[in-house]
Amino acid sequence: MKTVKDLTAEEKLRLICGKDSWHTVDLGGKIPAVTMTDGPVGLRVVCKRDEVSGKEDSLPAVAYPAIHMLANSWNPAVARKMGECLGDDALERGVDLLLAPGVNIKRDPLNGRNFEYFSEDPYLAGTMAESYIEGVQSRGVGVCLKHFCANNSEYDRFHQTSDVDERTLREMYYVPFEIACKAKPVSVMCSYNRVNGTYAAEYKKGFDVLRDEFGFDGAIFSDWGAVRDRTRSAKAGLDIEMPFNEGNYRKLCKDYAEGKLSEEELDACTQRVLDLAYRLKGMSKDEKPVTSEQQRLQAAKEILSESIVLLKNDGILPLAKGQKLFMCGVFAKAWPALLRGGGSACVRWTEENFDITAALQKRGFDVDYESAFFIKDVLSWQNARTAVLKAGRGDVNIVCVGTGEEIEYESGDRQSLRLPAVQEQAILDTAAQNPNTVVVLFAGSAIDVSAWIDQVKAVVYAGFTGEGGDEVVADILTGKINPSGKLSETFPLSIEDVPAANTYKHAGVTRYQDGLDVGYRYYDTYEVPVAFPFGHGLSYSSFEYDNLKAEQKGGTVKVMFEVENTSERAGKETAQVYVRECAPFVYRPLKELKGFCKEEIGAGKRKKFCVELPMRAFAHWSTATDRWEVTEGDYEIMVGSSSADIRLRARLTLPEIQL
Ligand code: BGC
Repeated sequence: MKTVKDLTAEEKLRLICGKDSWHTVDLGGKIPAVTMTDGPVGLRVVCKRDEVSGKEDSLPAVAYPAIHMLANSWNPAVARKMGECLGDDALERGVDLLLAPGVNIKRDPLNGRNFEYFSEDPYLAGTMAESYIEGVQSRGVGVCLKHFCANNSEYDRFHQTSDVDERTLREMYYVPFEIACKAKPVSVMCSYNRVNGTYAAEYKKGFDVLRDEFGFDGAIFSDWGAVRDRTRSAKAGLDIEMPFNEGNYRKLCKDYAEGKLSEEELDACTQRVLDLAYRLKGMSKDEKPVTSEQQRLQAAKEILSESIVLLKNDGILPLAKGQKLFMCGVFAKAWPALLRGGGSACVRWTEENFDITAALQKRGFDVDYESAFFIKDVLSWQNARTAVLKAGRGDVNIVCVGTGEEIEYESGDRQSLRLPAVQEQAILDTAAQNPNTVVVLFAGSAIDVSAWIDQVKAVVYAGFTGEGGDEVVADILTGKINPSGKLSETFPLSIEDVPAANTYKHAGVTRYQDGLDVGYRYYDTYEVPVAFPFGHGLSYSSFEYDNLKAEQKGGTVKVMFEVENTSERAGKETAQVYVRECAPFVYRPLKELKGFCKEEIGAGKRKKFCVELPMRAFAHWSTATDRWEVTEGDYEIMVGSSSADIRLRARLTLPEIQL
């Protein structure tokens, strides 16, 4: 095993700059190289670049539900399972390091990459990512946790600075990284933006927090092309620049020769790259995939079955046997580009089949289908009046709408929170013919549903499904699967209600003047009505909560309660534990998620839930003392079925604690 002492200065300088887009250098076979690939929901092993379009093509790989859907499962065991499967995918392709997951907070619902991220809530995002990372790394494959940090929109991403105060960083934007670091990710990737004026690639203060406070012991990568000055970034502790950049490398060598980068600084980065290469080699030694591709395709469906969210149901779902169905919308018989976001998280599916009509026919339903409209094309709907007539003739009209990679993609933000006009029109026109209308929504993030929500009886949020999604959607519609997903982000009534949409964003500066008021923290504190709240999701079962007890024992508070399934079918319920400081001396949002628990409960059965909260759950980051503090006083524990549906409350008094 080589150490920095075995390398020449030239070798060290070369090692801290990647070899190409997907490998580190091996210094002529002297040390192991690292092979890496995207991404969060399936492997994107780039195989060639189309010479005309310049577009990259990748090898086929199992496409799992996108991360926004995984988060809707609220089930860390499901996240771990997805991680294990991705680990096996990587082992099969000889990949050492997976460039995932991304844990950036959904501050702005228009962020073009929201489909790649977990949540508007840092605890949920971090907790799900922690399990995902454990899953991948348990298979001997490393992860690269990204994008550090405060990278919450794609708008002008190479230039804009996220102007954000320390408390907000600590309580919102660092937290998912902090929690995910408990799973010991072998690497972290910086983001493109600046943080308070400093490029994320040179954000020493943040890197020090990762290493000294969050226990991160791996290597820090640049995002692809995020380095402006390799010397400054190396001095800050950024270990590897990716991909190789000839100009940056030459300048680095020159700066080193002129003494602008010290030996110690170069050695620190070099040693961490060496450690990473040997660590990954050690992790994957003797590892072989334990699942077949078929099993992983099956797992993709199981993950989705916990993630689809039933947003609205006026009793029309599940569909009854013998009902005649009319279905419209290209999303019903779709191709992958409609069911995923674009950019580095894009996966080339192993099979391109997706047909909900066929899946419903297989389940004994009579389905008439018209594609009727395309994504944005207004003319397509004007030419499809037959669809309106047919909608009136079926027992149930199912409209499949969504976005896909044309609307949601890396490097740009969405232009609107609403569906394209043609799709809204299709819902309204067919629903006018048939009040028994169900909308199935294939989108990677929140949608403004206000133009049509009152005209339809049910809405199923299928999101970016991944492979096998047609079968799972059919099972949800027909009731074979009882929906149990809950929203990991609020669906606001309109973009005007979103704090991030109303903050200063100009001349390369994005002011995070919304502070802690992100997502439900804002809507609930300021009593702003929303379409569907954070944590919301219906089931074909019904649940009642009682017997809440909250007991402090040493460093934790045990929250115990019971949930009864009052229906005649088994179902899964995710109970959410929110905390409120009753009389704070610093600003605190009305409620903050600090724990959750998802359990399957048999028909008519009752289950005991227990969630343990550490003292940190009650603390705020004090900018007066630069540490976490629990203020002496009363705290309310709120247990709910969503952030807006609090079923049980308890109070407790805590002493002053400095953490
Ligand atoms: C993205 C990263 C990705 C990298 C490699 C960048 O543009 O921001 O998330 O891992 O490219 O494809």
